[in-house]
Amino acid sequence: MEKAEAIRNSKGGTPLTMLTAYDYPTAKILDAAGVDMILVGDSVGMTLLGFPDTTHVTLAHMAHHVGAVARGTSRAFLICDLPINTYTTVEQALESARTLVKAGAEAVKLEGGVAIEAQIAAIVADGIPVVAHVGLLPQKVLEEGGYKIKGKTDDEITALMDDIDAVNRAGACCCVVEGTRPHAARMATERSVIPTIAIGSGEATCNGSVAVITDLIGGFPWFVPGFIKPKGNVAGIIEQCAREWMAEIRAWKLPQDSLPS
Ligand code: KIV
Repeated sequence: MEKAEAIRNSKGGTPLTMLTAYDYPTAKILDAAGVDMILVGDSVGMTLLGFPDTTHVTLAHMAHHVGAVARGTSRAFLICDLPINTYTTVEQALESARTLVKAGAEAVKLEGGVAIEAQIAAIVADGIPVVAHVGLLPQKVLEEGGYKIKGKTDDEITALMDDIDAVNRAGACCCVVEGTRPHAARMATERSVIPTIAIGSGEATCNGSVAVITDLIGGFPWFVPGFIKPKGNVAGIIEQCAREWMAEIRAWKLPQDSLPS
């Protein structure tokens, strides 16, 4: 709980940084780089596993990836997503959270506010820190017929404020605010005692920011969210390395006596 308390108490200080990682080398690099939090996001379903959205991700996928990331993380606060349909009831949420902690997570993240307040409170009471996630909830993509920006209407703003209140009450240590209009994210931040972490909710609207590592490094060029400015072109580097290596191999001149007679 120590790292969770440090995150919770950091509100108002230097903005928090959170990056996703799904494997050992990436975790080791991000940990050494000094990122505050590493998230094994269920975005792994899209960025690494080739699914169209996060609704295909299972607890077994998450346990597998958080184990690898835990082996590469010694300093950052390590959070793992509870995937869809693994926290429908309080009992199921507890069991799923314990499974991920056993696999290496220090905290779990769940999507929702009022609707899952009891689940968050129960996990926290069990001694497992929780990162909340409100606003646009990717696990609801099929239910809502797409990724819908939140905080556009008065009703949506009220719902967002209710959700941020709920996760504060339930004892979350910080809260991701995804895909909301900037003014709604700012309102949530002002209202929240715990730090808010923005993604796709405008710049400097929250107490920190989270990015999906493949978006940031240019590792998944087939879909780049409009709000991200990639800092590299890893996909291009992989292709270039592969092409250079193939050209070298294909230029081999095998000695004639190496061929079967
Ligand atoms: O799964 C994920 O990577 C996430 C971030 C987008 C916050 O939940």
